[in-house]
Amino acid sequence: MEILNGGRDNAIFKQGDHVFRPLNPWSPSVHKLLTFLHDNGFHACPEVIGIEGGQEILTFMDGDTSNYPLVGAIGTDAALMSAGALLCDFHDVSAQFLVSEPAQNLPWMLTPRPPFEVICHGDYAPYNVALDGERVVGVFDFDTAHPAPRLWDVAYAVYCWAPFKTNEYDKLGDINTQAKRAALFCEAYGLSAPEKAGLIDAMIERLHALIDFMMAEAKKGNAAFVENMKDGHHLCYLNDIAYLKTHREKIEAALT
Ligand SMILES: Nc1ncnc2c1ncn2[C@@H]1O[C@H](COP(=O)(O)OP(=O)(O)O)[C@@H](O)[C@H]1O
Ligand SMILES: [Mg+2]
Repeated sequence: MEILNGGRDNAIFKQGDHVFRPLNPWSPSVHKLLTFLHDNGFHACPEVIGIEGGQEILTFMDGDTSNYPLVGAIGTDAALMSAGALLCDFHDVSAQFLVSEPAQNLPWMLTPRPPFEVICHGDYAPYNVALDGERVVGVFDFDTAHPAPRLWDVAYAVYCWAPFKTNEYDKLGDINTQAKRAALFCEAYGLSAPEKAGLIDAMIERLHALIDFMMAEAKKGNAAFVENMKDGHHLCYLNDIAYLKTHREKIEAALT
């Protein structure tokens, strides 16, 4: 068994072509989704192999993986645009899943948010995709998947890919570069004009929802989130919300 880094410490393993991840109450819903995606022509995600001893077994996706800061292939416009296009492909097929299944009634880690247009990935960030050269060819880590509007997922994805992050380690370029990258992602996704008009508010609301979720989990005693709060992750998100508010006009101008 080989430990896979890039997510939680000492929790994700690889053996042969398979990945072993901790099973959660919402894993059966995620497995239904992943199986539906493959059955309906979307193959850029892991396949479900099965469940064994409290772990889910998924296929390993070939490709390069990365994390912040976004240097090298993951930081290119080509990677950014292929990520936007792939998110739209995923949403289009996941919308069919919602037609076949009242998925809002299944268990998910994050609360379903009406109107239920698609299944959102929930954490469509550079650290959860696989690259072939400068092209994003796969996405994994579907634990945060949940039914919600397209814009809800695009908002968090744009925040992560622009990225509108103020942390010295995570940031890339200045606000002009970030706004241009946000626009490129939205173009590649094919985001509509009314959705673009709501993007900044959606990003802000999504970050508040994330902070609320972290705080609720920490209060319940979830060790990972207690640690996140101790490390001040919620304060980073609050700074980023302030940053989005400060630069609203510049970002809006780039998007239109
Ligand atoms: N199906 C997969 N195919 C390829 N790599 C994977 C796959 N699942 C996980 N990984 C690798 O393992 C790392 C951690 O897995 P991930 O599912 O993202 O865990 P976490 O939920 O802790 O973020 C990822 O960043 C990626 O590098
Ligand atoms: Mg991950």
